[in-house]
Amino acid sequence: MKSRPQTIVILAMTADGKIADFQRSPARFGSRQDKNHLEQQIAVVDGVIFGAETLRSYGTSLPITNKKLLEWRKKQQKPPQPIHFVCSASGKIDPKLKFFSQPIPRCLITTKVGAKLWEHQSEFERVLVIDSPNTMIEHSKPNWDHWETTLYRLQQLKINKLAILGGGELVGSLFQANLVDELWLTVCPVILGGKNSPTPVEGRGFLQSQAIKLKLIEIKQIEQEIFLHYSVNKSRGK
Ligand SMILES: NC(=O)c1ccc[n+]([C@@H]2O[C@H](COP(=O)([O-])OP(=O)(O)OC[C@H]3O[C@@H](n4cnc5c(N)ncnc54)[C@H](OP(=O)(O)O)[C@@H]3O)[C@@H](O)[C@H]2O)c1
Repeated sequence: MKSRPQTIVILAMTADGKIADFQRSPARFGSRQDKNHLEQQIAVVDGVIFGAETLRSYGTSLPITNKKLLEWRKKQQKPPQPIHFVCSASGKIDPKLKFFSQPIPRCLITTKVGAKLWEHQSEFERVLVIDSPNTMIEHSKPNWDHWETTLYRLQQLKINKLAILGGGELVGSLFQANLVDELWLTVCPVILGGKNSPTPVEGRGFLQSQAIKLKLIEIKQIEQEIFLHYSVNKSRGK
C-alpha cells in the first residue's frame, strides 16, 4: 500500500439523499452555516479535489475568505489557500470559467489525452498526468484503478490532508478504491427527489454484503441542519 494523504469527503445532501437536482444544477440548498462549515473544513487541508462535472456545474470553487481561518493558516505556515485539484479524464473544461480567475492555486489531474488540451496554457499551475494500463480510460468511463497512484503523487506534492468535495461520481470512485477515511455529511431540510438526481456516492454501488461501514464520531445540529461526521471502517463487509 502506497503512502497517501488523509482523505475526508465533505458534502451537503437533501433529506432524501440527493446532492443536486435532476438537472445537476449547482447545489445551493445548504445554509450559510453549511458554507461556514465547509470553509472550516477546507481551511485545515492542503488540497481539495473535485470532479469535472462539479466544476462545470458551479463554474467556481470555494476559496477561504474568513479572516480568522486565513490567520490560522498563516500561523500553521500553510499557504492562504489549499491547492484546488480538478479531476477530469477528458480534460475538457472551459478555460473561460470564473474558476480560472479565482485567487486559488489550480492543478488538473488528467490523462495524456486530457493534458494535450492544456499544453502551453497557464490556467493550471500544474497538470498531473496519471496514465497506467487501466487508468482513467477513455474519458466516458473513468474508473478508479488510478487512485492509489494519484494519491501517492499528491502526497509527493506535500498534500497530507485532502478534502474531497464531490460530486457523486468522483466520491464513488474513491470509495470503490477504499481510499476514503472520513465523511462529513450535512443533511439539509429540503427534498429534491428524482431518480436521475445525483447522490453522495454514485458509480456501480456495493452489494449489501460488501457495504462500506461507517462509525459516527460526531453529530451537531445548527438550526434546521444536521452535520454528521463519520470515520470509514476499512475492513469491508465485516
Ligand atoms: N451537494 C453537494 O455538496 C455537492 C458537491 C459537489 C457537487 N455537487 C453536485 O454534483 C453534481 C456533479 O456530480 P457528478 O457525480 O455528476 O460528477 P463529478 O463527480 O463532479 O464529476 C464527474 C467527472 O469527473 C471526472 N472523474 C470523476 N471520477 C474520475 C476518475 N476516477 N478518473 C478520472 N476522471 C474522473 C470525469 O471528468 P471528464 O468527464 O472530464 O472525464 C467525470 O465525468 C453537480 O450537480 C453538482 O452541483 C453537489
